[in-house]
Amino acid sequence: MTATPTRPFPSNFLFGAATAAYQIEGAAHEDGRRDSIWDAFSRVPGAVINADNGDVACDHYHRYADDVALMKRMGLQTYRFSTSWSRVRPDGGAVNAQGVDFYKRLVDELLGADILPWLTLYHWDLPQALQEKGGWANRDTAELFTEYALTMHDALGDRVNVWTTLNEPWCSSFLSYTAGIHAPGHYSVEEGMLASHHLLLGHGQTVRELRARDESLNLGITLNFTVAEPADPNSPADLDAARRLDGQHNRWFLDPVFRGAYPADIVEDFRAVDAAAVESFEKAVQPGDLEVISAPLDSLGVNYYHGDLVGGTPSANPPRGGDAPTDRPSNSPFPSHEGIHNYERGLERTSMHWEVQPAGLTALLSRVWSEYAEPAGTVLYVTENGAAYDDEPVAEDGETRVHDDERVDFVRGHLGAILDAQDAGVDVRGYFYWSFLDNFEWAWGYEKRFGIVRVDYDTQERAVKDSGLEYSRIIAARALDA
Ligand code: NOJ
Repeated sequence: MTATPTRPFPSNFLFGAATAAYQIEGAAHEDGRRDSIWDAFSRVPGAVINADNGDVACDHYHRYADDVALMKRMGLQTYRFSTSWSRVRPDGGAVNAQGVDFYKRLVDELLGADILPWLTLYHWDLPQALQEKGGWANRDTAELFTEYALTMHDALGDRVNVWTTLNEPWCSSFLSYTAGIHAPGHYSVEEGMLASHHLLLGHGQTVRELRARDESLNLGITLNFTVAEPADPNSPADLDAARRLDGQHNRWFLDPVFRGAYPADIVEDFRAVDAAAVESFEKAVQPGDLEVISAPLDSLGVNYYHGDLVGGTPSANPPRGGDAPTDRPSNSPFPSHEGIHNYERGLERTSMHWEVQPAGLTALLSRVWSEYAEPAGTVLYVTENGAAYDDEPVAEDGETRVHDDERVDFVRGHLGAILDAQDAGVDVRGYFYWSFLDNFEWAWGYEKRFGIVRVDYDTQERAVKDSGLEYSRIIAARALDA
């Protein structure tokens, strides 16, 4: 008998899972925390499915010690979480010591369990008080973000080495200020463009300040990517649709961060749609900003869920399902989306209607590595990848089980895609499954479950799903069996 062939991961590869403050913590009105834009948006009729909100969520604020113990039992090496600006500086100004203390307790618990804390400073929960002054469309917010980041570093700089400034700025700008789908739910091309710039400015300033304080920190940003492919690679209209989607989603953030310039073709696309918005954006980009934004990074976080097959003309067989969770009106998050049509290619889909396409992750990592990260001396981590399915819990031998075979395949497929990228020479050093727990999926409320751990929202009981058990086995083996 021959041994089962296995594919080992390099010894420096980190296995983890990710969450975000508003999605899991709850305790929304405790210990001095005040409203974030997501608390306020959740109260807008129709903004979130079932009028769900993050008031209680997974009650992680009170259960963090048990949650960390579970991570330990599952073998996670690292845990990616975010700190809540609304807890730490509830109005964007004065520091709330009780809020800071929660993160000290959490980090101590992680270190005690030998789990590397991976801290994200902004995962979308801007203090509502700052939104009332214009939010990310106001340049002052970038400055205040850096002040908040330094508060976190004052508190945790001796214990936390890895700092991610922003999570998915595409979502916190265009999806939030242009498409109206995420908080604060605005419908303005101008605000989306300004928000993207001010988010990136806050990122760059924070990197500069943290670097000046401590050169040994591992500093990075997490971006969300799509892999835009033309329905017909010989059709100029389809190629142009793919160029625009890639440009607005990927290059709009990659280019300023790694090359110190916004992509000129996309600026012109925006101008054709809303010349006044571009004029305002161009005024907002002040001399020196792009130099700040392109400060060198140690790591780039890659969030990958799915790709898009697109064409320049409507498909005869368009995919079912879309991005808008509720009946509330939504704009396209892409200011020049006109003429970008999604095509169906018959791949399996998750309950978000997102395609399951592990090969897209290999292609994405290879492209981002060769075109952006490698030339800059930056290494890659997959900071999010995961799938929502309509899980059914079953009681077996007095335990709650979730036989989520599709998610098991999803995790295995994407870890295999990472190994393929490594074989092709890409320096990708870690994987964080999204999410550790089922949680508040933004405008989708609690309807979509991404966790490798099930949360019963009535009892707050946790149950490791089959995907979690499989992930633990892979971590223990540090290899994928074939
Ligand atoms: C990306 C976001 O960072 C996270 O908050 C969200 O829950 C997942 N994608 C799934 O949509």
